[in-house]
Amino acid sequence: MNNFSFYSPTFFEFGQGAEAKTGELIRQFGGTKVLLHYGGGSIRKNGVYGKVIAALTTADIPFTELGGVVPNPRSGLVYEGIELAKKEGVDFILAVGGGSVIDSAKAIAAGVKYDGDFLDFYRKKASIEDALPIGTVLTIAAAGSEGSANSVITDEETQIKKGAYSNKLRPRFSVLNPEFTCTLPAYQTAAGATDIFIHVCKRYFSNTPEVAITDRLCEAVMKTIIYETPRVLRDPNNYDARANIMWAGMIAHNDICGVGREQDWASHHIEHELSAMYDVTHGAGLAVIVPAWMKYVVEKHPERFVPFATEVWGVPLDMPNPIETALRGIERFEAFLKQIGMPSRFSEIGAKKEDIPKLVDKLFANKETEGFYVKLNRDDVTKIYESVADV
Ligand code: NZQ
Ligand code: ZN
Repeated sequence: MNNFSFYSPTFFEFGQGAEAKTGELIRQFGGTKVLLHYGGGSIRKNGVYGKVIAALTTADIPFTELGGVVPNPRSGLVYEGIELAKKEGVDFILAVGGGSVIDSAKAIAAGVKYDGDFLDFYRKKASIEDALPIGTVLTIAAAGSEGSANSVITDEETQIKKGAYSNKLRPRFSVLNPEFTCTLPAYQTAAGATDIFIHVCKRYFSNTPEVAITDRLCEAVMKTIIYETPRVLRDPNNYDARANIMWAGMIAHNDICGVGREQDWASHHIEHELSAMYDVTHGAGLAVIVPAWMKYVVEKHPERFVPFATEVWGVPLDMPNPIETALRGIERFEAFLKQIGMPSRFSEIGAKKEDIPKLVDKLFANKETEGFYVKLNRDDVTKIYESVADV
């Protein structure tokens, strides 16, 4: 196991009615004037907006609003948010929504405290030294941004989607009411579950030996997603299934499953180019890319695919042919993604084969290789894209 630092200071209020505490939590974490940040229409339709406003009003917290965050959030609204937050003198940002809203809130929080262009953080030209505190009310189990130090934003000018990382971005608190996720369309539920599962894969497929504790945590999260996702798709109001998925989403990405080991985020970066160019739902893009990545690297480096097959998917170990065991695990993963309604080809997500050179150019704009489990170059990534591109 490698040495590590682990800092995960977010306070979680979990369960039915948890949102009623939002106002007092803001006060507890020093907020006196809030920027309320949210997405499109979903929180108004399902009543979450009204509940959050009631909690702010009860706690007597003044707020100003900025809605309109789109999935795969854009730089334009972040600039608007920074200006509004400065003009109104807010000292706390409350994100009500999913990963896109939370990531946009994190970008605003860092941008308010920075004299330059906030995109410097995403272009790796500057590091985040300070940020306004943020809190979240989560409405979709997926990205894990409610407990993570990351934010992913698409630069509207270049259509490049990149992440920034800083412990300063970790939310002070996150309110998780699983009931709020019951109104998600089945596709979003499944895409969210896919993202959660794959956040764990990024940590599981590691070259670091002797990390049994995080291996077992990873397996628990993956098995929970395998069990609960079909249950919730059959019965969208199943509270316990929603609750297990929601907490799995947090555990998958606040890095408790990833400490002490090398991680491999190549396939996430390969997907981000798709969601930036075609506005694909992130989890659906991952459903296309990750099995393709697995099939490409398994022969080069099968070791971690064997426990993935046996411990996560229950494939019997074929001792003389571990590669066969590994391949059966990938097959079961693909069958699961199909069962929950996720795509597997470019044509299903609006991506085009002729754009592959552009996707590869963007991905390798300022680096030579991607990933660690198996290091990938431009040629490797081209082949991965081509393997799922339709003629
Ligand atoms: O905009 P509204 O109307 O709210 O609709 C949203 C949106 O269309 C809808 N939705 C959310 N909660 C709902 C609901 N609809 C009905 N009922 C509800 N309760 O769902 C759609 C997707 O929302 P979004 O926030 O985009 O989903 P998600 O949480 O999957 O976030 C995706 C973004 O997070 C980034 C992704 O790249 C993508 O941009 N990621 C962020 C990470 C992080 N910060 O740590 C890590 C991830 O790997 C990921 O890259
Ligand atoms: Zn993700």
